[in-house]
Amino acid sequence: MAGQLALVTGASRGIGAATARRMHQAGARLVRIARSDMPPLPGSLDIRADLAEVGSRLEALMQVSAQAGVPDVVVSNAGAFLLAPLAGTSDELVREQLGINVEAPIAVARHFLPSMRERGSGVHIIVGSIADWRGFAGNAAYAASKYAVRGLHDVLLEEYRGSGVRCTLVSPGPTDTAVWDPLDPDCRPDLPSRAEMLTPDDVADVICFAATRPRHVQLELVRLGPA
Ligand SMILES: NC(=O)c1ccc[n+]([C@@H]2O[C@H](COP(=O)([O-])OP(=O)(O)OC[C@H]3O[C@@H](n4cnc5c(N)ncnc54)[C@H](OP(=O)(O)O)[C@@H]3O)[C@@H](O)[C@H]2O)c1
Repeated sequence: MAGQLALVTGASRGIGAATARRMHQAGARLVRIARSDMPPLPGSLDIRADLAEVGSRLEALMQVSAQAGVPDVVVSNAGAFLLAPLAGTSDELVREQLGINVEAPIAVARHFLPSMRERGSGVHIIVGSIADWRGFAGNAAYAASKYAVRGLHDVLLEEYRGSGVRCTLVSPGPTDTAVWDPLDPDCRPDLPSRAEMLTPDDVADVICFAATRPRHVQLELVRLGPA
């Protein structure tokens, strides 16, 4: 990835932080976006923004364009995991879930993909989930958001096929990050233990693999999970 510009959303921790670190190690210049502070990464352009909020998101995306240019690789990773049984799935929870997991990736794609097409190159990676193709109890809003983002990816594949812009959906199974903290999976027999989960680096490896295929190869979909 030497010399390439990579944008990673949700890079303050978890899968996004691991992906940014790996891409940096591979020689990429990084732009990272999240609401909170990001772990140190020399040379990275770090933007604190709420990607679920229209104004904050637009300002951040304009800042990327003005200060860094059009990325070679975009990783739409920022997301939230808001679980509730259907009866407890309030309108507010649904709006919050869709705001960051669906509206934000659509806005990020809309901001950069037309310029990537004009340039004739680019890789666009969305981090989906096992919940973008399998239902789990207690998952209504999260599953709706991840199925939606898989729909977005499928549309982008067709709209940008042959343009030089290549699109990948990376759909991980359970990964040991802070999203699991409120659920305390090690005390829940119905959930995988943290030791059984993927690590953020496992997922980051796959994202970096997708980002580094030769220009004539489009890796459309990767589903990974614990063996
Ligand atoms: N962990 C899993 O088991 C798992 C499995 C499948 C898929 N995924 C997906 O992987 C992605 C990353 O999840 P993770 O497990 O690494 O979670 P995480 O550790 O909680 O990281 C989520 C990242 O998204 C950022 N983010 C959340 N809301 C944001 C907002 N409104 N504006 C800007 N940034 C925001 C967070 O930063 P701030 O809080 O600092 O803003 C953080 O950097 C998500 O799309 C998730 O759905 C996770």
